[in-house]
Amino acid sequence: MPKNSKLKIGVLTGGGDAPGLNAVIRAVVKCALNRGWEVMGIKDGFEGLLDPSSIKQITPGDVSGILNMGGTILGTTNRGNPFQHKAGSDKKESAKDLSDLVVENFKKLGLDALVAIGGDGSLTIAKKLYDKGIPIIGVPKTIDNDLKETVITFGFDTAVSTATDAIDKLHSTAQSHKRVMVVEVMGRYCGWIALNSGIAGGADIILIPEIPFDWDKVCQKVEKRYKSGKNFCIVVAAEGAKPASGERLVKEHKTATHVEVLGGIGEFVAAEIQKRTGREARAMVLGHLQRGGNPTTFDRLTSTRFGAAAVRLIAEKKFGQMVSLSPPNVVSVPLEKAVAGLKTVPPDSDSILSARELGISFGD
Ligand code: F6P
Repeated sequence: MPKNSKLKIGVLTGGGDAPGLNAVIRAVVKCALNRGWEVMGIKDGFEGLLDPSSIKQITPGDVSGILNMGGTILGTTNRGNPFQHKAGSDKKESAKDLSDLVVENFKKLGLDALVAIGGDGSLTIAKKLYDKGIPIIGVPKTIDNDLKETVITFGFDTAVSTATDAIDKLHSTAQSHKRVMVVEVMGRYCGWIALNSGIAGGADIILIPEIPFDWDKVCQKVEKRYKSGKNFCIVVAAEGAKPASGERLVKEHKTATHVEVLGGIGEFVAAEIQKRTGREARAMVLGHLQRGGNPTTFDRLTSTRFGAAAVRLIAEKKFGQMVSLSPPNVVSVPLEKAVAGLKTVPPDSDSILSARELGISFGD
């Protein structure tokens, strides 16, 4: 391994947490230390770069035993955008652009490069900081799997496993009570978690944002299922799913500094099915369980490969890039391309086609 000049690099985790964050941090630290470099841990995403006193060196002991741990030892926030910074919770205070301070602090700390582990929000910030001169590498994280230019983001596989496990468990209670059970899963504006867990968990109906549904079609499928002698029905609804005749349900609206929070579709679908079919229906919101727990083997492996690849890119001085899974390899792509829009589920994809052939309804 080339031991190029001793570098000092920073690492941070931004946005909603996802299983595998610690595995990436560990890989970055181990690979960098093996090259003779120094790694600084930046707390709470980009927020940490506004407070240099909070930035500490990461030692081998700090990353020992964290490979299979959920969460992030560095902390994170999905409200830490230095380009639109708002201190505290005072609603009246207007957002300030503190990105120059971030650049100044980065230089003061003597950092040579920054590894930013995050989803579309954090990587968009990373791209803007790269444009302002910070040598940055992005690592694609999100349970939503909605980042472009990578086949998969780490965290997604664990979230799908958790959701599938929940759907498996709902089968017996649905059957015992002859109920329609509606499971609301995360995913924001994309249906990847709903689609994959729905197929793996044997759902009868899957509702995703990419295919707006028709209430009549949903209810016809419920009735068909009961008439076929199966006295229960499992529906998986992505939080961003919406009826063709309506809007997606928003719990908290987007502001200059806060992202939109979705939710409520599960209850809505259960209530509507019960009203229209007379079948008893219940809803369950899986929520943040999908972000918790130990990463699966796949996520640990992907996270570790991503972390190692990020350090390799720094050694090669290939900045402004995001590591990306392009099986069988981990490659790199420009951050600019990775954050240009979301990776939605193609309605004509093989998974959708296979699900339809299995008799799963998308309510269309
Ligand atoms: O992006 C990850 C995610 O878990 C989404 O699936 C979900 O919509 C959102 O974050 C929830 O965010 P918060 O933790 O702010 O409630």
